[in-house]
Amino acid sequence: MKPAAAIKLAVFGQPVAHSLSPRIHRMFGEQLGIEVDYQAIEAGTEELADRLSAFREAGGSGANLTVPLKEFGLRLCTSIDPVARRARAVNTLKAVEGGWRGFNTDGGGLVLDLERLGLEVAGRRVLIIGAGGAVAGILEALLDREPETVCLLNRTPERARRLADKFAHKGCIEAASLTDGPEGPPHDLLIQSTSAGHSGQDLPLERHWLAGSARAYDLNYGQAHSAFVNWCHDHDLPAHDGLGMLVGQAALAFEIWTGKRPDIQPVLTSIRGVV
Ligand code: ATR
Repeated sequence: MKPAAAIKLAVFGQPVAHSLSPRIHRMFGEQLGIEVDYQAIEAGTEELADRLSAFREAGGSGANLTVPLKEFGLRLCTSIDPVARRARAVNTLKAVEGGWRGFNTDGGGLVLDLERLGLEVAGRRVLIIGAGGAVAGILEALLDREPETVCLLNRTPERARRLADKFAHKGCIEAASLTDGPEGPPHDLLIQSTSAGHSGQDLPLERHWLAGSARAYDLNYGQAHSAFVNWCHDHDLPAHDGLGMLVGQAALAFEIWTGKRPDIQPVLTSIRGVV
């Protein structure tokens, strides 16, 4: 019997050369017996339309978009999943008749990883540092888990307020300035979403914002996670990096393309060795 042709996939972004996605999706393919051809294609907002069309003409059937393309990518979709529409960002494109359908699997990927780690959201007080694109992408999935409350703390409080207003219909969500800190009783789960760690900057966090038994999750991993994990260590707060979320969002994208959900854990264990 002729072997099935490989499904042709790619991640587009800038810079993209160091993306872990090709490695992750090839491992998913091996796990599920699906031949995967997954490339990393360098593209900024100016090149994306042309590179995506060329990819499609060459047989591309699914794509991931990463920095700086997640918001821009919306305008190249012919249909958009409601979660991605509300997040105003797409990280996954699936080829459909006449174009691309856009999805956002970031929030779903985070929730999968929180479950894997046993970090409860339902009924808990969640404190999120940051109010940028990354938070817009995860808020709906988090609020769907029915936390008691979510508080967004941001250096620029207006951005936190705008996001809180936008998702207010989904649950109890507050906004405050990072300098003022949150109000009310201590929080159970701290989610770090800012890009401060990319430049090694410390955040003005206070341990008393969090309960003694609280735990922390950083959407970043690798070098960008260092400053935050050091603060957590110094303040006796168990912390997790966002590598599991990366694999989780990838698993959900793989399922959109193939109908099959890969097992996250073995892939996570394998890439932990290279990050
Ligand atoms: P992303 O898509 O990664 O969320 P973004 O939309 O540029 O990127 O948002 C970056 C987030 O990190 C913002 O919440 C930003 O705060 P501002 O809205 O005030 O800019 C936050 N951030 C970046 N560097 C920071 C720093 N040194 N201290 C505090 N917050 C920082």
